[in-house]
Parts: sequence; C-alpha cells; structure tokens
Amino acid sequence: MKELVILIRPEKLEDIKKILDDVNCGGMTLSTVMGCGTQKGTTSDTEGAVNEIRGFKTTINLLPKVRVEVVVEDKDVEKIIEKVRETCVTGHVGDGKIFIRNIEDAIRIRTGERGAKAL
Ligand SMILES: Nc1ncnc2c1ncn2[C@@H]1O[C@H](COP(=O)(O)OP(=O)(O)OP(=O)(O)O)[C@@H](O)[C@H]1O
Ligand SMILES: [Mg+2]
Repeated sequence: MKELVILIRPEKLEDIKKILDDVNCGGMTLSTVMGCGTQKGTTSDTEGAVNEIRGFKTTINLLPKVRVEVVVEDKDVEKIIEKVRETCVTGHVGDGKIFIRNIEDAIRIRTGERGAKAL
C-alpha cells in the first residue's frame, strides 16, 4: 500500500475527488493548507515584496493549496498519478506535487480487517 499526498490548486478540488472516486478509493482525507514550492510563493506581481506573516517579516509568500491524502493499493498508484497530471497540469508554476509514502499496514477499527482489506 502507498499513501499519495497530493497538493494541488484549490480550483482542482472537484476534479481530484472524481479521479479518486473513479478508482474506487476506500476513502480520502482532505485539507486546505498554505504552502510554497521553489518560487517561495512569489508570482510576477509579488516578486521582491516583503510580506508579514503572523508578525514576522518574510519574503516567503504562502499560497492556498488543497492537500489530499489517499492510501491505495500499489497497483493503483501510477494510474492515479497519470490522471492527476492530466487534470491538474496547466503548465504554469504552482501546479502542485505528489509525494508517495509506503504504508506498512491499515486497520479498520470496526471489523479488525487488516491491510488492503481495510482500505
Ligand atoms: N519540497 C516540498 N516539501 C513540502 N511541500 C512542498 C514541497 N514542494 C512543494 N510543496 C507543496 O506543494 C505546493 C505546490 O508546489 P509547487 O507546484 O509550486 O512546486 P514547485 O516545486 O515550485 O513546482 P513549480 O515550479 O511547477 O511551481 C506548495 O504550495 C507546497 O504546499
Ligand atoms: Mg512553485
């Protein structure tokens, strides 16, 4: 099993829900987060600007992103990556990222099922 941590533009939220539904994922966890990548959140209009975040002056500008965590069987990973890329790529900076983690085990609390059966 693998966990995909998918960070995308907020406007892609409905698309990502559909993709995960299409692969019959057992569930997903979603949060709205603030983040930045290699451009440190600067866009052409804010470049060089000093921002204040909670009282600290910083040149890092955090932008809203949607973070989706989903644990899936190994066989579904590449399919999901492909579909997410197809849907979320605009070609502009800030399209997002996917991080992949190994998941050792999973347990459905209600039944005690383990591993892929618990997804
Ligand atoms: N190395 C990282 N560690 C943790 N989170 C990251 C990392 N890189 C990106 N993120 C998260 O992913 C979001 C989107 O990143 P982004 O797409 O801007 O990455 P990038 O590497 O700058 O690529 P691009 O050049 O296409 O913009 C960020 O807002 C942040 O939440
Ligand atoms: Mg970026």
